[in-house]
Amino acid sequence: MALPSKMKAWQYSSNTKGITPHLILNPSVPVPIPSRLGEMLIRVLSVALNPVDHRPAETVLYRFAIPKPATPGVDFAGEVVQAPADGAFREGDVVFGASGSIFAGGMLAEYAVAESSRVVEVGKITPNEAAAIAIAGLTAYQSIISRVKPNSHILINGGSGGLGTFGIQIAKALGHSVTVSCSGRNAELCRSLGAEVIDYTQGTLLQDLKNAAKVREFDLVVDNVFADPDLYWKAHEYTVRDAEYAVTPINTTYAFMRPFVAMKLLPGLLGGGQRRLTVMFGQPKLEQLVQIRDWIAERKIEVVFDQVVPFEEVKQAFERLTSGRTVGKIIVEVARAPGSSNTQTS
Ligand SMILES: NC(=O)c1ccc[n+]([C@@H]2O[C@H](COP(=O)([O-])OP(=O)(O)OC[C@H]3O[C@@H](n4cnc5c(N)ncnc54)[C@H](OP(=O)(O)O)[C@@H]3O)[C@@H](O)[C@H]2O)c1
Repeated sequence: MALPSKMKAWQYSSNTKGITPHLILNPSVPVPIPSRLGEMLIRVLSVALNPVDHRPAETVLYRFAIPKPATPGVDFAGEVVQAPADGAFREGDVVFGASGSIFAGGMLAEYAVAESSRVVEVGKITPNEAAAIAIAGLTAYQSIISRVKPNSHILINGGSGGLGTFGIQIAKALGHSVTVSCSGRNAELCRSLGAEVIDYTQGTLLQDLKNAAKVREFDLVVDNVFADPDLYWKAHEYTVRDAEYAVTPINTTYAFMRPFVAMKLLPGLLGGGQRRLTVMFGQPKLEQLVQIRDWIAERKIEVVFDQVVPFEEVKQAFERLTSGRTVGKIIVEVARAPGSSNTQTS
């Protein structure tokens, strides 16, 4: 297939009041050229949005770590149109994974470069489902998999977002029981995925956790929100002695770092936290991408879609993303998959 030299791509060159107001669809961006051994050119089909698509760009990293104009988008599914020199994939293969850069991944474009070491084949699931996995699915998986014994009782603080909806179902697929915090409007969804629910908007979350612990203490806390330091300081009141407290939000602001450093450094005997605190960094592990993909194909877990929007509506999608109210995943459908729909598992 003859490839064009120019393509459409979403770009921003300012972060005043966030990147969303500055996103423009540039109709004539040069199509990128793979240059390293494992790199391949992808015709992008679907992109899942994540907080990482805007949060680093709204900090000091914007100035130092993000080349401008920048194209966001990390999580993707797409068709290989120029195979990598390492022979890992062929033209026509449909693959998914994460782009090499997490700060401005470049996937919100018609074409993008991906690395063969970070992607696997889509197989029987759809590009929209596949695009959702690499950040939210993998991070949710890794926040649980190595941190619990069989048949554990897991608390997920923030059950209705991208990480939470994957986390509930992964915990269940692995044979654990799971309780989540979410707002009342998302309670039914979280229950339908298999969780017990505590409505955090009632303002009594900590007390509700202590009450739940009278029946059974928690073996692991996965905190996808990290907005209330007391949940950690008081974790010994609702978790078992060797429970881990895993935090997923990563933030370089002073407001985040100050309580975090105290939690990490102050010994328990001097009034510090009494549970092991860890910060999660999702890692690109291919065998885990395959595991989650196969669970979706087997209908053991489902991707919860907040919305699926066309390529032209990226700006509206970012407005939704930055509202912090996303339920499951927002997907941008950049192009149609060869010979099929992007949405329905075959
Ligand atoms: N460490 C890593 O490698 C890694 C990877 C991925 C993501 N992350 C981080 O992990 C966090 C979660 O990511 P995500 O993709 O799941 O975010 P998300 O989808 O944007 O989360 C939105 C959800 O959070 C819920 N929520 C907001 N405030 C809440 C609260 N106080 N209590 C309970 N739920 C609340 C919202 O529900 P309501 O509207 O009902 O409140 C909404 O459904 C983000 O900070 C993200 O940056 C880290």
